[in-house]
Amino acid sequence: MICLSIETSCDDTSVALVNDSSEVLGGYTISQAKNHAEYGGVVPELASRKHEENIILCTQNALLDAGLEVSDVDLVAVTVYPGLLGPLLVGVSFAKGIAMGLNIPIVGVNHVEAHAISSMIENKELSPPFLSLVVSGGHTSIIDVPSFSEFLICAQTRDDAMGELLDKVARAMGIKYPGGAVLDSMAISGNKNAFAIPMPKFENFDFSFSGIKTWALNNVKKLDEEEKNDFASSLVFGLSEYVSKNLIQIALNKNRKNIALGGGVSSSKVLRHVLSQKCKEHNLNLYFPSSKYCVDNAYMIGILGVHNFKNKRMFDIDSF
Ligand code: KG4
Ligand code: ZN
Repeated sequence: MICLSIETSCDDTSVALVNDSSEVLGGYTISQAKNHAEYGGVVPELASRKHEENIILCTQNALLDAGLEVSDVDLVAVTVYPGLLGPLLVGVSFAKGIAMGLNIPIVGVNHVEAHAISSMIENKELSPPFLSLVVSGGHTSIIDVPSFSEFLICAQTRDDAMGELLDKVARAMGIKYPGGAVLDSMAISGNKNAFAIPMPKFENFDFSFSGIKTWALNNVKKLDEEEKNDFASSLVFGLSEYVSKNLIQIALNKNRKNIALGGGVSSSKVLRHVLSQKCKEHNLNLYFPSSKYCVDNAYMIGILGVHNFKNKRMFDIDSF
């Protein structure tokens, strides 16, 4: 079975081809980051228009990359939730058109669930059950994956996402959007103990980043040039400790031995370093995707789409 998958939930237009053995056959992605940079964040209307402009080119190039014709496709998978409504509509409408034209089935995929399984693309030994941390510009969630049909949220942010906080702080430092990766590099050369970050605590394992954001934005204004790396270091190491601590505790409580990362922020060298150390201490296995699969991509949508189709988790495409 060959699945053509489509991801347009935010600012990346991505199309991929995968098979039912979870192998990637090809794909093509156009990032809109440079189109939104001057606004300091994603502009939904602009994102919808860019998806419309790019989606046919992405599909043609993905098919070329896989060496396939559109008539070879047996299944269409598309991101249906969560995401920006206009951008999602572009992807779903396009996917419906292909499925209708070829008279083949179409399956919906939850974007966060797809990030949760994205470590499986390159780590073939990883399969459920495992515990996943999805950390991106839009999400910070710890998800238990006992099987491909169950995605159980164990903890999530009550306000902002970790990536959103990093991007806002980076912007206040004069770094262009999305600045998470630049802050991560600055963090490596700074002193992580220079500033004490106020970390919120809840009775459960949920996160909150909005208070830290306010604190950080107030403090950024007072920084000298030579203090900036120390500030980035305290912030990125502090946040990495914060999410890793909850993740490890949930893994121990649930007796999960395998931990997977997903989402744009899971590219963070600091987060990977902090989490690797903690996993070693507790004898847990840590899996993460390469950068191409950390960010928004249609490969993960296709891999989960095939499982959703086999498990009859079709989602309500007709409500779009
Ligand atoms: O998964 P993604 O591409 O889009 C969303 O679904 O949000 O994640 C984008 C986020 C941005 O906030 C970006 O700053 C962050 O991932 N990011 C990083 C790194 N690379 C990307 N954050 C920290 N360290 C990195 N190396
Ligand atoms: Zn995402």
